[in-house]
Amino acid sequence: MRVIVESSPEQVARTAATFVASLVRRKPACVLGLATGSTPLGLYKELIRLHREEGLNFSQVTSFNLDEYVGLEPSHPQSYRYFMQTNFFQHINIDARNTHVPDGRALDFEAHAEQYERRIKEAGGIDLQVLGIGSDGHIAFNEPGSSLGSRTRLKTLTSETVRDNARFFEHIDEVPRLALTMGVGTILESRRCLLLACGKHKAEAIRATVEGPVTAQVTASALQLHRDVVAVIDDDAAGNLYRRDYYREVEQAQQALQAGKIKFGG
Ligand code: F6R
Repeated sequence: MRVIVESSPEQVARTAATFVASLVRRKPACVLGLATGSTPLGLYKELIRLHREEGLNFSQVTSFNLDEYVGLEPSHPQSYRYFMQTNFFQHINIDARNTHVPDGRALDFEAHAEQYERRIKEAGGIDLQVLGIGSDGHIAFNEPGSSLGSRTRLKTLTSETVRDNARFFEHIDEVPRLALTMGVGTILESRRCLLLACGKHKAEAIRATVEGPVTAQVTASALQLHRDVVAVIDDDAAGNLYRRDYYREVEQAQQALQAGKIKFGG
């Protein structure tokens, strides 16, 4: 796993945006996997800026979101469809027909989940999956104990996640207890994963993800099995990493290599 430690959440957003933007420029009809929550907001702002100021073109991009609360209408202010519309899609030139968010009102969740997986495959698979991380180490809504081979399905949220997400609702009782979520197995099939984390409250989950054992108790740790994961995190989220200095050295060596400062041969 490549670990990039940045000095601030703003810098995390800018660095993350360079990964997304370079993919969109290189492959205009790429497939993006997207996340909601507080963490990717800065990334979406930066991508909107790149669209407005530098003409970053999303017209051929297809997107698939990780998850959606069960029971919320797409127009509900706390639904993830609404979040994506208001924080990203309506500010860029993505074709609304190419944006996918699981439908929390599906009557047959199993059939809907299968169809979601099928649509991802038909689109050619996800090129880059943006991920946040829960304080319990979840990715998407794959709570502790989720199978590391899991696919899109219904999942019950832990009380920790319900508490964490209550800040978006007027009362904790309004937080849905169920969500439709891509599985860990679905996420691991993405060609690249871009994991973002900011703040001290994520430090333990990040340590367990990057340096702990691979375990279903911390579903993000399954990313260690993926060949192309870039974790962009801020200093606070990196606070518990034992090998933090080494990750910096790796990035410095990488930059020196790119700048042609490392000479080969005589
Ligand atoms: C959201 C999602 C979740 C969040 C995680 C962190 O689509 O999949 O896994 O990424 O709960 O949320 P924030 O960023 O609000 O701390």
